[in-house]
Amino acid sequence: MENKRVRRDDLPKHIGIIMDGNGRWAKKRGLPRKYGHREGAKAFRKIVEYCDKIGLQYLTVYAFSTENWKRPKDEVDAIMNLLEEYMDEAFAHQNDDTAVRTRFIGDMGALSIVLQEKIKRIEQIGQGRTGLTVNVALNYGGRNELVHAVQAIAELLEQGKTAPEQIDEQMLCDHLYTAGQPDPDLIIRPSGEERLSNFLIWQAAYSEFVFMDVLWPDFKPEHLEKAIEIFHQRHRRFGGI
Ligand code: FPP
Repeated sequence: MENKRVRRDDLPKHIGIIMDGNGRWAKKRGLPRKYGHREGAKAFRKIVEYCDKIGLQYLTVYAFSTENWKRPKDEVDAIMNLLEEYMDEAFAHQNDDTAVRTRFIGDMGALSIVLQEKIKRIEQIGQGRTGLTVNVALNYGGRNELVHAVQAIAELLEQGKTAPEQIDEQMLCDHLYTAGQPDPDLIIRPSGEERLSNFLIWQAAYSEFVFMDVLWPDFKPEHLEKAIEIFHQRHRRFGGI
């Protein structure tokens, strides 16, 4: 694998990816949309492997949004099955020499009990691993995440464990699914669309965005390398000059 051109000390710490374009990829080939998702899941595995190789610390991928339930049941089931396959694979390889840790971010309560149990197990397997953390955003919505954070803080207020003047940005961050993780430095959206679609809306306040004209199933490590190269050309000022 070509990983020499990206130096570890140059890397963003956290990359977010909106895995978009699976449906169009399938349509172009006259195939049902679920085939696009299947190829998308393959592209995801290759990207995880690559991120691990180059020493990235955090990767967050948007697998299923709170709005994606509006899709036909057949398509939703196909995506859930792909996620389950990925988890089963992780169980089968749990004793392999890997430092990759998989976490799931989102509102897990709406998922099937089987999936919820698998998620718990996979997160347990990853505990103590110190390499790449992969956050799979599943039934995730940035607005929903903020509502949950506010509800949790409101409970603290009600219990007298905090006071309104103690509520600050850090407290909010501590109640997000990504608590304890750095904000994404770089967010990539392939497929030609240029919007955030409710992905990491709080965490993306200072992220650099790279939009690429490639459908997710065709997205390769070279595309990620290119996005990192573009990121390095940006001048991040964080509100300064
Ligand atoms: C967006 O493309 C993609 C999704 C809503 C699903 C993404 C899911 C996967 C890549 C599989 C997940 C599996 C693992 C193992 C992480 P779209 O369907 O909206 O594409 P379109 O805009 O071309 O219709």
